[in-house]
Amino acid sequence: MRNSDFRASLAEDFERFKRELPRDFPAHVRDTYRINLAARYLGEPLPHPIGKGSGQLSLNVGQLETDAEAGLAFAVLKTVIAQDPAGTQSMAAWAIHETKMKVERLGDGWTITWKGRGWDRSFEDYLALVRAGRDLTARGALLTVPSVKYHLPRLEEPFRDEEYAFTTRALAHAWGRSPLLLEKDFSPTLAGDALADEREQIVRWLREVPQRIRAHAEVRLAMKLMNARFDDDFQQEMMNAASGADTVVVFNRLFDAERGVAYGGSELSARNLRVLDQPSNRLTVQPSLSGTGNIHSGRLIVEYARRGCSSVQLHTFFQLPLEEYPATHGSRTQRALHVLIFDPRDGLIAVMLEREANGALERRNGELHFLDLCAAN
Ligand SMILES: Cc1cc2nc3c(=O)[nH]c(=O)nc-3n(C[C@H](O)[C@H](O)[C@H](O)COP(=O)(O)O)c2cc1C
Repeated sequence: MRNSDFRASLAEDFERFKRELPRDFPAHVRDTYRINLAARYLGEPLPHPIGKGSGQLSLNVGQLETDAEAGLAFAVLKTVIAQDPAGTQSMAAWAIHETKMKVERLGDGWTITWKGRGWDRSFEDYLALVRAGRDLTARGALLTVPSVKYHLPRLEEPFRDEEYAFTTRALAHAWGRSPLLLEKDFSPTLAGDALADEREQIVRWLREVPQRIRAHAEVRLAMKLMNARFDDDFQQEMMNAASGADTVVVFNRLFDAERGVAYGGSELSARNLRVLDQPSNRLTVQPSLSGTGNIHSGRLIVEYARRGCSSVQLHTFFQLPLEEYPATHGSRTQRALHVLIFDPRDGLIAVMLEREANGALERRNGELHFLDLCAAN
């Protein structure tokens, strides 16, 4: 088939999958378009690059089961606040409860305003969610990864190792297999906190946290970096300082100090992509990158991939009002995947075909490969 024939099939698939997205759409994409969507997160192979970023959409087993059913590639669980054996949390200010949430347009994209922060139920409840995620992962239904916010000291203070030890061991025990896959969250509200006033302090965290965690279990570690309140060069410096992680998630939401809230939208993706565009002295292979921030089309997935991201983590786009998705049936996750993959103009397939047509992406053994977008970086 020629590129133009693929485009005709795409328009048809987009229409018919509005009613029902096949669970194994990556196999369909490979058969029909000869496009291999295989991707990678934290060293794990994925059927396609799209996962769910940590937040309110991965708080309970029901959400994970719906995502598994929809064919999502992976889900990062809501961030839990670390604790020591007595239950003391140095980052307790992040375990606040808040239900009010507002989804609104912001520039060429969407943002959610919400004042809540980390997991606000018991640590035992979190471990139960981790075990449910472990079972879904073992069945090959959905890769799930817990997320933690651990103690972060001021420059002159030591790390509270009891929190690192207790929390890491408990998660590793609940996961039951080695290595434990784990994401460490450096959140946007942290960027707004006085704790993050000093560059040196942030750089120390990024350098030292991997060994603090790994001292207590075999861990494959992703570090999700915040957008600090400094310039683009400092974002690069943070990425370099995080080189002890296996994967770096780039970059969590922006922080509006005046309103005291985190936000996303086009300003977020513009900044993230601009920082990733800068020449860096990072080793090309390690750590690998996972993109996050205002991803609401296949075109944006490709923009992150071209800058080295072998997977992406969306949150806001899975939370839009139903009428914003072109699909008419299915869960929000299915409807989001449908448009992200099959939109005839800005979907992942369309953009990969477009790159083939203009010579930016070539077939290998007859197939276009998603991961070749990252390799070209
Ligand atoms: C309401 C809300 C809650 C979030 N909670 C967390 C969290 O607990 N831990 C975390 O690492 N990221 C959290 N995030 C960040 C998202 O996972 C995501 O990285 C970020 O919002 C950028 O992607 P997006 O523009 O697709 O939303 C949260 C985001 C939102 C909007």
